[in-house]
Amino acid sequence: MENKYYVAVVGAGPAGLFGARELAAQGVHVAIFNRDIKAGGLAEYGIYPVKHTMKEGLRKQFHQILDLANIDYYGNVTVGTHGDLTLDELRALGFDAVLVTAGAQGTKSLGLPGEELEGVYHAKDVVFSYNKLPPFSQRKFRFGKRCAIIGAGNVMVDVARHLIYVQNAEEIISIVRRGPAEVNFTREEMKHLITYLDLDEFEKEMERVRPALQAINQDPEIGRHKILDSLSKADPKTKNAKFHFDFLASPTGMFGENGEMNKLEVEDNILTEKDGKISAKGTGIKRTIDVDSVIFAIGDKVDESFGLPTEWNEFIKNKEPRFPVEGVSYESTVEGVFVGGWSRKASEGLVGYARKDGTHAAKAIWQYLQTNQPANASAEAVAAKMKGLNKPIILKEDIKRLESAEAEEAKKRGFEEYKFASNDEMLQAMGLTETA
Ligand SMILES: Cc1cc2nc3c(=O)[nH]c(=O)nc-3n(C[C@H](O)[C@H](O)[C@H](O)COP(=O)(O)OP(=O)(O)OC[C@H]3O[C@@H](n4cnc5c(N)ncnc54)[C@H](O)[C@@H]3O)c2cc1C
Ligand SMILES: NC(=O)c1ccc[n+]([C@@H]2O[C@H](COP(=O)([O-])OP(=O)(O)OC[C@H]3O[C@@H](n4cnc5c(N)ncnc54)[C@H](OP(=O)(O)O)[C@@H]3O)[C@@H](O)[C@H]2O)c1
Repeated sequence: MENKYYVAVVGAGPAGLFGARELAAQGVHVAIFNRDIKAGGLAEYGIYPVKHTMKEGLRKQFHQILDLANIDYYGNVTVGTHGDLTLDELRALGFDAVLVTAGAQGTKSLGLPGEELEGVYHAKDVVFSYNKLPPFSQRKFRFGKRCAIIGAGNVMVDVARHLIYVQNAEEIISIVRRGPAEVNFTREEMKHLITYLDLDEFEKEMERVRPALQAINQDPEIGRHKILDSLSKADPKTKNAKFHFDFLASPTGMFGENGEMNKLEVEDNILTEKDGKISAKGTGIKRTIDVDSVIFAIGDKVDESFGLPTEWNEFIKNKEPRFPVEGVSYESTVEGVFVGGWSRKASEGLVGYARKDGTHAAKAIWQYLQTNQPANASAEAVAAKMKGLNKPIILKEDIKRLESAEAEEAKKRGFEEYKFASNDEMLQAMGLTETA
């Protein structure tokens, strides 16, 4: 079964790991390069920390993949223009193909005045921080008691939970550019937050936006039902906090004093409908909301400095793919370089989606490999290149040592799980040093 093909996978999130598994099953030798010490991507560093069962289940599957004999793992290695090696340097090692599954690491900035103020944050940074991903785990945030979150997706729900339960925030406002029927979170996630929804305020807000919904012939009950659907399954209220929505509002700026924000300015919107698509349109009417912090939970974009051409927040795909899978192009515009998961479509879907997408990207690569003879790239040359980076490179066996040290630490402290929050601590636990 084993063949001479050697493929590089950049990124060990669900897309990269399941993509690697698909290639390995075809007998391909795979080398995974991952920015983080640990594998898992957002499954490790995005999924809400208390979802222990889900996270542990995924970790088990990831272990099984990394245990495959024809998969090598190089952690703590960033590929990209500002990384440890560029995409061109990686390609020059002679791989038969490269699969880019580095997620969506770029930040969508709206270019608003006041973005530089303390108290203005992006959800990814907050999420990485509370999930203890270095260096975000070391960053200090100033959330205060009254916080606005821009967006109404599942990330908004996660961030609101963190602000209420961990940061002891007293009031959270979700700023939604469209209306109640266009919120994007799921019932399963909202049930963790809905108990904090101030129902009187909610009804007042529904009344306020009623004319805008009527203007596009939308029944307000659609939005009301979508939002309140999870009430019957609501988590118990254990904190003294309030959550509400501010619909039909887009952020236009942040203002403050002494470098710290204290006001969010929003523009009121109306709704328009064309071919069934509902959009927000600014009215020009602005108002300010007194808040201590604002967190943008509006999705992410790919890292524009990675080394692949981008457009509209994504890597450009070959529009006429030679190796489509189910009609989808996994081909970048660079010969032999494929994209999958959130690197193909930023901020799209759950782990199951990333798994399927990474697997499909690997299927596209397998088709591509059939059209070429193996280049006979050398695994020794790759290992030597890694050694030459002069920094600790994490191998599969190191991860095992790290995880057993963390399990021991959790046991000692009586915690369900424990994570070392800095690279130094992780390296120490693995018996490695910064200059190894
Ligand atoms: C806050 C949040 C919570 C979520 N919660 C859930 C949930 O509860 N359930 C669920 O099913 N889904 C959840 N998701 C969605 C899920 O996490 C994603 O669908 C999935 O992780 C995307 O997988 P990916 O492999 O494409 O990217 P990622 O998971 O982002 O993995 C990317 C990997 O690439 C590596 N990398 C990045 N840049 C480089 C580089 N330049 N060089 C080398 N390596 C690099 C990173 O270290 C990382 O390991 C959540 C997402 C977020 C943002
Ligand atoms: N627990 C879970 O299962 C879980 C947890 C977190 C994330 N995830 C998944 O991860 C993916 C990403 O989640 P997400 O919450 O980041 O994305 P999302 O579901 O797309 O939500 C993004 C929100 O931001 C708004 N938005 C986007 N651009 C905006 C702008 N310029 N100004 C104002 N608002 C803007 C969107 O409004 P519009 O609708 O108007 O565009 C939407 O409400 C989703 O598939 C999600 O399900 C899952």
